[in-house]
Parts: sequence; C-alpha cells; structure tokens
Amino acid sequence: MKIIESKNKLIKFIDKEKKLGFIPTMGAIHQGHISLIKRAAQECTKTIVSIFVNKPQFNKKSDFISYPRTLSKDISVLKKNKVSYLYIPKFNEIYPRGYNKNIKISSFKERLCGKFRPGHFESVVDVIDRFIRIIKPKRIYLGNKDMQQLKIVEEFIKRKHNDTKVIGCKTVREKNGIALSSRNLLLTRKEKIIASKIYKLLIKNKKKLINDKNYLKLIRKIIFKLGVKKIDYIEIVDINKITKPFVKKKKFKVFVAYYLGKIRLIDNV
Ligand code: PAJ
Repeated sequence: MKIIESKNKLIKFIDKEKKLGFIPTMGAIHQGHISLIKRAAQECTKTIVSIFVNKPQFNKKSDFISYPRTLSKDISVLKKNKVSYLYIPKFNEIYPRGYNKNIKISSFKERLCGKFRPGHFESVVDVIDRFIRIIKPKRIYLGNKDMQQLKIVEEFIKRKHNDTKVIGCKTVREKNGIALSSRNLLLTRKEKIIASKIYKLLIKNKKKLINDKNYLKLIRKIIFKLGVKKIDYIEIVDINKITKPFVKKKKFKVFVAYYLGKIRLIDNV
C-alpha cells in the first residue's frame, strides 16, 4: 500500500491506472469501510482510500474535535486489506482557495438530516467533488448506512462526473444490530445496548410503520422511554422517489436520527 499526502505525488502514481475504485472515508476504519473496500477490490483493478476528517461538514466544532482519529491502526487495517493507495491530504491541499459556496445539490438536502445540519450536504458534495477531480476514479463506493448522503452524492456525480459511477453498498451491522460507525467508539456500553434495542424496535415494526404513519408517535415514545433524550427525526421515505429518474415501484425505509448523550446516531432500515 502506497501512503501519499501530496496531491501532485498522488496524481503521478495513479496517472496510468485504468480502473480505480475510490472509497472516501474520515478514518477510524471499521468493517463497514472494509466492506466497501472489498467490493471495490472485486470490481476494480486498484483501490484508493482517502482519510480526511472534512471540517466544513461538521456543524459543531466540538463534534469535529471529538471525531475519533486512529491513524496508525487505520494504516495497518488498510494494509491488511490490500488497499493499493491511501491518500491522507492536508486541509490546504483540498481547500487551497476555501470552500465552494455555490455548489448545487438535490433538493433532498432539505429533508431528514438536512433540516438539522444546514450546509452539511453541500460540504460533503464539495469535498467529494474535489477528490474526484484529483483521483478521477471509475467507481466510487458509498454506504447505504448514510442513505441521504449516498442519494445526494449520486445525483451530483451523475450530473457533473460522467466517468465516475456510484456504487451503493449494504450497511454492515454488529451482531446486536447496531450499524457500524466511527462514532460508536464514543458510546458507552449502556448506550450501545439502547442503540441495539432501537434497531430491533424499528425492524420489528417496519411494516406497521409503513402502513400507518400514526404509529410513528408510539415508536417515538418507546424510543424516549429507552433512554434517548432527543430525536431529530423518525420518518418513512420512499427511496425510489428521492432523486430522478423516479422508480415506480415503492421502496420504503424508516430513517432515524437521535442522540445518545452528545453522540448523534443515524440509521435506516
Ligand atoms: P465515513 O463516516 O468515514 O464513511 C465513509 C463511507 O463508509 C461512507 O460512504 C459511509 O456510508 C460508509 N459506511 C459507514 N458506516 C458503514 C456501515 N456500517 N456499513 C456500510 N458502509 C458504511 O461518510 C463519510 O465518512 C463522509 O461524509 C465522507 C463521504 C468521507 C465525506 O467526507
């Protein structure tokens, strides 16, 4: 695995690669990330992972500061998984002239997390756009865990980067059902048990929720009773009607965002 910090060096290295599979991450690598890497390795000739904790996409400074950083462990895990290139850019390499304030993204940004995180998805798309311009991957691998991010990025890439295909990958979960996430490192044992109960509650009641939206109120109550202090949203969305071209067949998912202590968790089932 080649570890590269400089944009110019990276471009020299990957210049001749025919089919690069790109997995953007913010580090604290876990099996969710690894599943994207494995899929990319199967479908592409070489894989490239980026680790970049993208400051502008954090709405709170404290969340950016406390975001887990485990670089030396990440490097050894990525090496073990035979990643071809690891790109760890410095802030100024990615934003030499500041952020793109004029980025246009899907109106889906106004729903779910978008209501609670102004500017978040613009910043995610901005950084991915920058990475794609440098790396020019044939494929970019993103997780269903962050479904709203996936849909918004996909819509943007389809418009702006013809040569890059977005591949959405299945959510990897712990045995207890919790979706793997770098932020899980910040949860206590008790909080993890609550997160697991919430996942099981949603799975068990998914059909009822889809058939009767009034049922949401009861589920909200149960989630609060489990020890959650704040729910940003729990909503049913037909993911086939989010970005055009719409698909006729309905595909409902339950989307949730809630806080355990200071940690905000999202999931969709
Ligand atoms: P990060 O949270 O590190 O996630 C990197 C990628 O891994 C995302 O595409 C995310 O959806 C995927 N992922 C995370 N947990 C997963 C799980 N349990 N199963 C499957 N895939 C999972 O998402 C980001 O970083 C950033 O917003 C980024 C796209 C890198 C832009 O800064």
